[in-house]
Amino acid sequence: MTASATADTGENPSSELEDLSTQVGDEDQREYDFIVVSNRLPVDRVVDDDGNASWRRSPGGLVTALAPVMAKADGAWIGWNGATSERLDAFSHNDMRLIPVSLSADEVEYYYEGFSNATLWPLYHDVVAPPEFHRHWWEAYRRVNQRFADAAALVAAEGATVWVQDYQLQLVPQMLRRLRPDLCIGFFNHIPFPPTEIFAQLPWRGRVIDGLLGADLIGFQRTSDASNFMRSARRFRGYSVKQQFVHVQDDDGEVSHIARAEAFPISIDSTKIHELAHDDEIIERAAQIRRDLGNPTKVLLGVDRLDYTKGIGHRLKAYSELLDDGTLTVEDAVLIQVASPSRERVEQYRILREEIEGSVGHINGQHDTIEHTAVRYLHHSYPLEEMVALYLAADVMLVTALRDGMNLVAKEYVAARVESNGTLVLSEFAGAADQLDEAVLINPHDIDGLKEAILKAVHMDPDDAKRRMKKMRREILDHDVEHWSQSFLNTLREVTADRGTASE
Ligand code: F6P
Repeated sequence: MTASATADTGENPSSELEDLSTQVGDEDQREYDFIVVSNRLPVDRVVDDDGNASWRRSPGGLVTALAPVMAKADGAWIGWNGATSERLDAFSHNDMRLIPVSLSADEVEYYYEGFSNATLWPLYHDVVAPPEFHRHWWEAYRRVNQRFADAAALVAAEGATVWVQDYQLQLVPQMLRRLRPDLCIGFFNHIPFPPTEIFAQLPWRGRVIDGLLGADLIGFQRTSDASNFMRSARRFRGYSVKQQFVHVQDDDGEVSHIARAEAFPISIDSTKIHELAHDDEIIERAAQIRRDLGNPTKVLLGVDRLDYTKGIGHRLKAYSELLDDGTLTVEDAVLIQVASPSRERVEQYRILREEIEGSVGHINGQHDTIEHTAVRYLHHSYPLEEMVALYLAADVMLVTALRDGMNLVAKEYVAARVESNGTLVLSEFAGAADQLDEAVLINPHDIDGLKEAILKAVHMDPDDAKRRMKKMRREILDHDVEHWSQSFLNTLREVTADRGTASE
């Protein structure tokens, strides 16, 4: 692994391309039959006590699902390594070829923190925070997307499959098709796609639609996301949409290809969670957690990135009102809230942290006793083993997102409940609600409704809870993340095999 700092100089596309070729090296060019392109590489850098850096595979379902596909298909993964102004050569890790894309300090600020996370993120999540529109952010987004597309074009073998992931890279499909029309291009949006009336606010809405329509297959979490996208393609680009298909035109008005948009709800590595939930050490750790909390009758759990879309404030409000009116007491119940640090340099996230930590302090100050706490707040990330222990320790899981593409925590909780007990309270605004309809479904904006749902979950008849959990577990064990990636890739194969005839 070699690294060197790059200066924040202005744009120079031809020197950028030269730079990219040296980074990638001859042995990687036109080499790979299957390529994943995502904002982040699927590895995290770890530094040991002696200061030696190495890479560790990131936790998460996407890499688990795609690693076997990579190994079988001679694959490579293109992404940013998470550092600023660091230029790394391509390298291998655990049988995976990784192609790093470097970002300057300005690009991290404008492309990642700015356009991706302060424009698109709030816009695509029902504008629960106001999106900001800045032309220099858009310019950086366009430039960085081009860099990812250039990297993919450089390493893809003839006719390769390239799977582009998520909202940070919506322009890549079109850019890539222009460079390499021989490729089969898939795109998957992990977050919601907004209704046309909200998407309309984006000054570059038509360019984003064109970017996505460069793909042969555009995957979304929910059917409603796919129809929102199709409506916007019609309204902002004048396309006539037939069922899931759009005849996409090139700059000369000729049909270049037929794009298909469809829902493929993502899932988790259910087998892994199921196994961990049977591990004696983890089972003991779950019992220990309950003892450490003073053996309350009911343990409630919230697990989220500290993000304003997750409805953590709504959850705390409902919970604190139940304590205020004496319906619950700290002797009966405790709420563990894991809020993992996220996007801490973005203003809205800083404001949220202050608000949430203020509320927790207020609730605990009001209700804690020497022996018992109302809310055990943990601003940390934990390994999957500890998460499974928490899922096993919790009688009730609270997922109160105001808008969420899927919410994998809800699915993980269900997969971990191997005894089929425990109750999931789930927002109808999370994609997971489409599959987990035996959860206690809630509208998180309705605080009284949320309070009733929490009480219903806390007091649910064990047989009813078991019946619901069993049904949900069947769904999650049958539809894991491997099922997700296989069904997307099979459909992409179908779509590209039928090029030109898909809608007839
Ligand atoms: O789904 C949205 C997403 O981008 C995930 O892919 C990711 O795990 C999470 O948000 C956190 O994102 P970031 O890369 O901004 O920390």
